[in-house]
Amino acid sequence: MITLNIVDRQGVSTPISANTGVSLMEAIRDNGFDQLLALCGGCCSCATCHVYVENGDQSGFSEDEDDLLDSSSHRQANSRLSCQITLTDGHEGLTVKIAPEE
Ligand code: FES
Repeated sequence: MITLNIVDRQGVSTPISANTGVSLMEAIRDNGFDQLLALCGGCCSCATCHVYVENGDQSGFSEDEDDLLDSSSHRQANSRLSCQITLTDGHEGLTVKIAPEE
């Protein structure tokens, strides 16, 4: 188990516990954050799991994710689709902010 800090669209930061080996999207969703819609269920085709990752994590970053993020008007340098990040022990203490709704 690792601890992550999730910042919602109102700026409220909440620590959550998450298993490693699951996606960041699943960890956020399973902790009850309804602002993260994740409509495609993690297939990298909806971009409704868009987050800003504090450390700019590039693990598992693909061309498909890059293309999908390009369709967002809220893309930033540290934008990621949370379904494309698999949690590891190295994510301990990471802060992740849910991006604005499109
Ligand atoms: S859940 Fe659809 S792209 Fe991540």
